[in-house]
Amino acid sequence: MPDAGEPARAEGRAARPRHGPSWAARRFCHQGKETLLSTKEILEADERAGERSFEIRFPARNGAAVDQDEEWCEVRLAAGWRRFRFHDYHAVYSIPGLYEQLFYAELKCDSPRTVCGLLHKQLEETDGDASDLRVLDVGAGNGMVGEELQALGARTLVGVDIIEEAEMAAERDRPGVYDAYHTVDLTAMPRDVRRDLQRRELNTLVTVAALGFGDIPPLAFAEAFNLITDHGWVAFNIKDRFLEEEESGFSKLIRCMLDEGILEHRDETHYRHRLSVHGDPLHYVAMVAEKRDEVPREWVEAAG
Ligand SMILES: C[S@@+](CC[C@H](N)C(=O)[O-])C[C@H]1O[C@@H](n2cnc3c(N)ncnc32)[C@H](O)[C@@H]1O
Repeated sequence: MPDAGEPARAEGRAARPRHGPSWAARRFCHQGKETLLSTKEILEADERAGERSFEIRFPARNGAAVDQDEEWCEVRLAAGWRRFRFHDYHAVYSIPGLYEQLFYAELKCDSPRTVCGLLHKQLEETDGDASDLRVLDVGAGNGMVGEELQALGARTLVGVDIIEEAEMAAERDRPGVYDAYHTVDLTAMPRDVRRDLQRRELNTLVTVAALGFGDIPPLAFAEAFNLITDHGWVAFNIKDRFLEEEESGFSKLIRCMLDEGILEHRDETHYRHRLSVHGDPLHYVAMVAEKRDEVPREWVEAAG
């Protein structure tokens, strides 16, 4: 394990999620992934997580600049410093409390609060009732957004994520937040999952910190969008440059949806999503809109 150089920031504190030790014994890591954590490491980290925060260090600024999806940090586990690439979610979720400490306590992520706050504002302005929300949370991760939506008053929450470690972490850290959670690739949705999602007559699509950067592709977003009932809410965030640049698949898709009246823009805010590993602000746009119609499949395929 190469040394990360001088730590860029000191340790932070994080609220401890609810979890039981039995979860720690389940193996989260796959062969062939960049970071392999042994069951022993997960167990030891799980024990420590209940006591105090992790020691985390970030790369010094003198290295080559890396884009957001290449960022990494090192965390001191019982066996020594282990490197975690931020986008290796399976590894980050495998350590209870690490996601919260890393992104929320250290890097000051504000996106679940911002996106859900924007949705809440729309509900207030339209005399809507949060308890009527039946939400599909796409890229739900370990449930930070579900928890925020629950606090807002949403009664029906369904989580979807592409990796099983996310579903396991949501159950471990926030049991009972989601009525259902599917580990699924939305671009190749099994029939039973599609049926379940349709049956629930979901009227709100929320996706936070999961669009762009090789995460949820436009096709998956469109599939999720088409599962929501007409006049439902759509609330999401995305890095500002992905929405503003012509060549991005998302910017084309969203612009088409707005131009054709499939999506009716209601509100947006430009804000600091979180800090980079070097402490620089990462700017995002959060948007709330109303679904007016389905996305035609040809557009989605064209968006790539
Ligand atoms: C940065 S995390 C955000 C998690 C959560 N929304 C939050 O704000 O805490 C991005 C999540 O998107 C998920 N994801 C990436 N690609 C996906 C895809 N194609 N379909 C569904 N989920 C995906 C990842 O597994 C990860 O859990």
